[in-house]
Amino acid sequence: MSEHREVPTDFVKLNGNWLRFDWNSGERLSYVLRERLDTRDVKVGCDAGDCGACTVLLDGVPVCACLTPAAQVAGRKVETLAGIAAETEPGKSLVEVFQDHGAAQCGICTPGMMVSAVALLRHEPNPTESQVQDALAGVLCRCTGYRKIVDAVLAAGGNGTARSPLNSGAVGSPVRRLDGYRKVVGTELFGDDVGTEGALSLRIIRSPHSRARFKLGDLDSFVSEREGIALVLTSKDIPGKNRFGVFPGFHDQPVFAEAETRFRGEAVAAVVGDQLALRDIDMDDFPIFWEELPYVETMLDAMDPAAPAIHEDRDRNVMCGGIVRTGNADAALTEADFVAEGSFTTSFVEHAYIEPEAGMADLSDGRLQVRAGTQAPEMDRKSLASILAMDASEIRIIPTAVGGGFGSKLDLSVQPYLALAALKTGREVRLAYTRTESMQSTTKRHPAEISMKIGVARDGHLKGLKFRGKFNTGAYASWGPTVVNRVPVHASGPYRVRHYFAESQAIHTNCPPSGAFRGFGVPQTAIAQESLFDELATILKMDALEFRILNALDNGVPTVCGQVFESGVGIKACLTALRGPWKRATKIAERFNRMAKQTSSPLRQGAGVAAGWYGCGNTSLPNPSTIKAGVRSDGTIVLHQGAVDIGQGSITVVSQIFAESLGVPVNLLALIGGDTDVTPDAGKTSASRQTFVSGNAARQAGAALRRDILKLCNASQNAKLEIADGAIRISDGSSDHVVYPSRLVADDEGYVLRSEETYDPPTKPLNANGQGSPYAQFGYAAQMAMVEVDVKLGTVRAVKFAAAHDVGKAINPMLVEGQIQGGIAQGLGMALMEEFMPGRTENLHDYLIPTIGDMPPVEPIIIEVPDAHGPYGAKGLGEHVLIPTAPAILNAIFSACGARIRHVPATPERVCAALRDSCNE
Ligand code: FES
Repeated sequence: MSEHREVPTDFVKLNGNWLRFDWNSGERLSYVLRERLDTRDVKVGCDAGDCGACTVLLDGVPVCACLTPAAQVAGRKVETLAGIAAETEPGKSLVEVFQDHGAAQCGICTPGMMVSAVALLRHEPNPTESQVQDALAGVLCRCTGYRKIVDAVLAAGGNGTARSPLNSGAVGSPVRRLDGYRKVVGTELFGDDVGTEGALSLRIIRSPHSRARFKLGDLDSFVSEREGIALVLTSKDIPGKNRFGVFPGFHDQPVFAEAETRFRGEAVAAVVGDQLALRDIDMDDFPIFWEELPYVETMLDAMDPAAPAIHEDRDRNVMCGGIVRTGNADAALTEADFVAEGSFTTSFVEHAYIEPEAGMADLSDGRLQVRAGTQAPEMDRKSLASILAMDASEIRIIPTAVGGGFGSKLDLSVQPYLALAALKTGREVRLAYTRTESMQSTTKRHPAEISMKIGVARDGHLKGLKFRGKFNTGAYASWGPTVVNRVPVHASGPYRVRHYFAESQAIHTNCPPSGAFRGFGVPQTAIAQESLFDELATILKMDALEFRILNALDNGVPTVCGQVFESGVGIKACLTALRGPWKRATKIAERFNRMAKQTSSPLRQGAGVAAGWYGCGNTSLPNPSTIKAGVRSDGTIVLHQGAVDIGQGSITVVSQIFAESLGVPVNLLALIGGDTDVTPDAGKTSASRQTFVSGNAARQAGAALRRDILKLCNASQNAKLEIADGAIRISDGSSDHVVYPSRLVADDEGYVLRSEETYDPPTKPLNANGQGSPYAQFGYAAQMAMVEVDVKLGTVRAVKFAAAHDVGKAINPMLVEGQIQGGIAQGLGMALMEEFMPGRTENLHDYLIPTIGDMPPVEPIIIEVPDAHGPYGAKGLGEHVLIPTAPAILNAIFSACGARIRHVPATPERVCAALRDSCNE
């Protein structure tokens, strides 16, 4: 409660108990619930009624707590997830079915989803699917693709399919998420949930211009004339380097801009003070003087020799490039019997996780402690050490739960501001970005401008492929170098191309930085390549799926980098698995279109296919993960695993692999999560690497611990372990042994036995022609999309997806399905609706992401072609799920109505324009 004002007091019946609460005029119910009544199971994603994460029941009716004035709830009944979690619906409790169905991934939307579901089930105990969709329509989810949420609510009502995931957790079993319970009862703590009442807060002053010079005014007077402000931070307060970034040579982003800003939303200062004081101060009075400068937003403008140089050392605003070439692409294209070519463009795509960046920092025993949502705790620590001129050992990073990341939370956001403010004041400091701040200032998917030419022989075999791609990397480097290195390696798609030339460039503009986003440029590239493949199949009068099967990579066949995998190439298996769904969808669409023409309906249906591949982990760079485990005196097996779970399930999957390798059920493990003080570095959560890389480290750590246990009694490797009542029972058929850990000597950490293992995937550098072994493994995917197009309005509705994904070994099939469905939802958004425009779509009502009503049924088809290096044969999956979706949709649109879309998203306007073009051809 504020110390600065008298506040009215009222009573509310919160989750069954009458409580006194204080409120200020104009305060939101969400604020009062979270900050005054400690009800942090209510999540805030937008403060504008767009995302529904804060949904609560007010007298039994779902409302957005962020839009409800606190003054209106006096004397009324408010229920939040914490109050209704235990409620048992007609079939089964939502808490159980959400876990059984894998309906919570990151979990940030889960309270809003479950509260909305309870409201429905109280009135409609056996809802239909469309009733569920209507009831949950106000809540956005960015992770799941909604299908598992719908299935869970149907199961709670008794109309769905029951699932009984096995609980042994053996590799291959669809065990519940190990962190799932916290998410479904509302006790999971995200970045804005860990700070305490009374902590200082921050407001960041940002540039309102795409490029501007600025001068700061009298900051001392600004602070002294206002109650509740502690200080103002600027670039002058940075004790170390006012620069951060990812790659050596590309640390180019300042924490606070110095004299000039390079994009709208860039930070120039931060005001630190009492939370309520900061909320009420008009920051328009902040003493800063702006001089707007000429700026460039397009790559064409940025490369003009007369354009302003965004960074002095980067000629014509070209940051860097990548290249892969083999054979002679020009000659092959000349000799080809048929050629398809085209230019394609894609837009900025916002990550739009439901949890905006948030966290806290304080000093503990003289050391700096930062708790925030992150995908890369060790990278954060190193970056902070450089910015703050501290030794890394003086900094402790404890990641909170992450409410969606998808790549953007690999970069620093709130951390340096929190850390600096905590160091300066010696107090705890909290910061949560507003939705607009989050969208203005954090990274995006690179917009691409791609030209591509592909030639084929009359028999359908690919002859040659040429690719040129420019990627708008915005004002700062972030992960742009990764994108331009990865793209040429992947632009062939998972096909045999003997003659190949692919070149990419990253171009700076005065836009927000583009960075890592599920696929690192490969989804943009796949749009061009898979669209032209469809055109080639049409020219050849071949079935589009069979054309791809004919050209698909195989074991022993070199990639465009000359890398040869003797086993584990699963693309043919993915494509052939689609034959049934493809044939059925094509027939259904033909029948539908015949009827539509007879009835003069403007609706047309079509089906499209596309494939994709993705190299797991860093491109030709070291990429190690370390996993540690130990046995305590009481027999507890402790797993320290720092592979940050951003909703994809690494906590569960890495634990399943470790448990399998050790030979115990997964539910016996005590888990210690990411914490740079006590958990070794498992690397960053990116590039679909955690199942593969951290999974391998976990497998090795499990095996090492098992060896040590067996050695104590000379038992054979095949022995069975059983751990109970403080004893380890070892049975190897011929004899039984018992080990009592309490009789062994414990080390400083309390472990009587311990293991710590590191795995680094075997890769080789690429030479000047991009030849080498960039990845130890690829994952493969093929998807079919069926859509319905209104040829009068240009609207497109997805009708169905079938998605075949080669994961090597599905460590947890339920989580694999969830990744597939969630990735498809993001691919659908990229294909049909998502287009971030700086200054114009900086909120979740102008920037559209798929809702529950946009997602049709998805048929996941899990393919298991074991990888030689993967743990139990497993391959990464997180990025692959998105790559084929947009091109499959675009190909389906063409199949439905003849409109060939070359700029995504395929908005109604663009579909209508493409239809007109197709009529004029
Ligand atoms: Fe729905 Fe992450 S699980 S937003």
